[in-house]
Formats: sequence, C-alpha cells, structure tokens
Amino acid sequence: MSLIDAYGRRINYLRLSVTDRCNLRCSYCMPAQGVAKVACGDVLRYEELLKLAQAAVRVGIEKIRVTGGEPLVRKGLPDFLAELAGLPGLRQLVLTTNGVLLARQAAALKAAGVQRLNISLDSLQPEVFARVTRGGDLNRVLAGIAAAEALGFPLKINMVVMRGVNDGEVADFAAMTLAKPITVRFIEYMPAARVDDFRSLLVPGSEILDLLARRFRVEATGRGPLCGPSRNYRIAGAAGSIGLITPLSGHFCGECNRLRVTATGTVRSCLFGSDAVDLKPLLAGNDAAALEQALRRLVEGKPAGHRLDEPALAPAPFAMAAIGG
Ligand SMILES: C[S@@+](CC[C@H](N)C(=O)[O-])C[C@H]1O[C@@H](n2cnc3c(N)ncnc32)[C@H](O)[C@@H]1O
Ligand code: SF4
Repeated sequence: MSLIDAYGRRINYLRLSVTDRCNLRCSYCMPAQGVAKVACGDVLRYEELLKLAQAAVRVGIEKIRVTGGEPLVRKGLPDFLAELAGLPGLRQLVLTTNGVLLARQAAALKAAGVQRLNISLDSLQPEVFARVTRGGDLNRVLAGIAAAEALGFPLKINMVVMRGVNDGEVADFAAMTLAKPITVRFIEYMPAARVDDFRSLLVPGSEILDLLARRFRVEATGRGPLCGPSRNYRIAGAAGSIGLITPLSGHFCGECNRLRVTATGTVRSCLFGSDAVDLKPLLAGNDAAALEQALRRLVEGKPAGHRLDEPALAPAPFAMAAIGG
C-alpha cells in the first residue's frame, strides 16, 4: 500500500508529536512566556496515538519520527515506543529530542527499539545555549549525547543557524564530525515564533557552505532512502557527515514525503499550509477504515509547496513546539 499525492510524491514519513510540553523555551520555537498549555484531556492518549500510527502504517507510512514539544517529558514513553517499534510494515522508528533528559532515558529508548536519535543543539557555548533556550543547561545535553553515543545510537545533531547568534560556531559544529561517526545538520531558520525578524536571522544554506569551506575541504555525498530533505556533505577524511536543510533558500517541497500529527490529533500535510484535519473524533471510535480514508484524503489535498518566498503570504506566528518541527 502506498500514499501518493496529487503531485506524484510518495508520502511515507509521519512526524508524530506526543506532547506540546517542553522543558526548554527556545526563542525561535516559542514565545518567552511559553505556549498556552493544552488541557491534559485534549492530548492524545497513547492508545489513540497507537491507533493513528497503525492506520498510517497500513496506508503506506514507513518511517515515524516521535517528536514534541519535548517527547522525553511525557511519562510512559518507552512502552509506547516499543509498541510502535513492533508495528508490522514500519521500517524506521526515530526520535527528536532536545537531549536534556536523554542521559537518564537513552537506555530505555534503545531497549524500546528506537533506531536513531536527532538531538537539537544550537550552541557549544554555555551562555549562548542558555540564551537561545532561555535557561537551558548545555552540560545536560552534552551528557545526553555522550550517553546515546555510548549505547551505539546513530546520532544526528541539528543546529538551527541564526545570524549574529550562533553562525560563528558553524565550523566548530562541523568539526564534531571529524573523529566521530555522527551527522551534523545545519538548518535554515524558519519563521515560527518570530516572524517579523526571521529574515534578519536567516543564514542561507549557500552562506553556511561558504563558512564551512573557509576551514574544511567539503565534498558532496549521495542521499539514502527515507532520508528526508537534507543535502549531504562530508569533510574530506571525516568519520561523520554534514547535512544542509534549506527550507527557505532552496525549498524541497517537490520532494516532501511527510505528514505531521500534533499532540492533540490534528494532522497536517504541510508545516506552513492551512489544511488540517482533526482526527480526534475518529480516534475515539473504532472505524479503522474511516481513519485511513481521512489520511488518504489529506494526502490528496497536500499542497505543492509553501510560499514563504512571497513576503505578502508570510504565516502568522506559531509555536513550532505545537507541531513538532
Ligand atoms: C519543535 S522541536 C521538537 C523536538 C525537541 N523538543 C527538539 O527540540 O528537538 C523539533 C525541531 O524543530 C526545530 N525548530 C523549531 N523552531 C524552528 C525554527 N523557527 N526554524 C527552524 N527549526 C526550528 C528545532 O530546532 C528542533 O530541531
Ligand atoms: S525547539 Fe524543541 S526544545 Fe526548543 S522550545 Fe521547541 S520544542 Fe522545546
């Protein structure tokens, strides 16, 4: 079974948010005061999340990324992940975390069957990290990364590059790949919590490559299946690799293969699109066919792409934490 949209794209990747709560307050993701908390009863129960994931896999999803808010703040997560890992037809189960609680939980994630971890880290300097995350402790994230490495998790470190904030650290992040088989991915800043000034913070991918080329010999490499929108590179002779994700300067909508589900059960086919379907009523019932149909219909209506390059159509501010990135 496969999900093909109106533009011939095969949709096989689901980003599943398990909570809207977070233990950080990154400036690019949410406002300083945080986001209005969704009432506990509105967040999907694990049973509902599993029902949704089962339907998604039946219609053609092959990869699930568990995200948030911060997924590791949700109680009982490893048991849920183990259920996901056991879904017949699911080829990849991966998770994105800010790493703060990872040192304590990495072993349980591994035992549950999570195959890979993406860890968001925007600075290697404690003060800059604390400023970007509004109070986060870099050491806890570094301890989480070390714990995940010790368990043999394949790791991707995701850095959102922001002009005048952390763009001076691009080469230092890339240097992490020299001796270790990790992937460091540089992500262009997207308009979310801060829409007005996003263009001044945006460092286009071409400039990120220039920053890298000043210090390293960087070679382009190939792409793997289910690999998402990253353009991949390697520093000559390095153990790890580098990815560049350019949603703004070189948007990859033509290759987009994903759906996103919020913690309250709203499914969206485009991060910046207005189409959204509330699956909660269907998840409360037992009509598996209706659930599959709703997913198929959403995929049929998936827009060709976002239009962020048209300033007049810039989106209203939103918390990325509510959607899961
Ligand atoms: C919303 S977070 C959820 C998972 C987890 N809390 C974390 O930070 O990894 C998922 C990803 O979205 C990214 N993100 C959030 N706001 C962004 C923005 N304005 N531009 C680019 N990436 C953003 C984060 O850096 C993170 O890698
Ligand atoms: S990016 Fe992740 S860690 Fe940072 S505030 Fe958003 S959800 Fe939390």
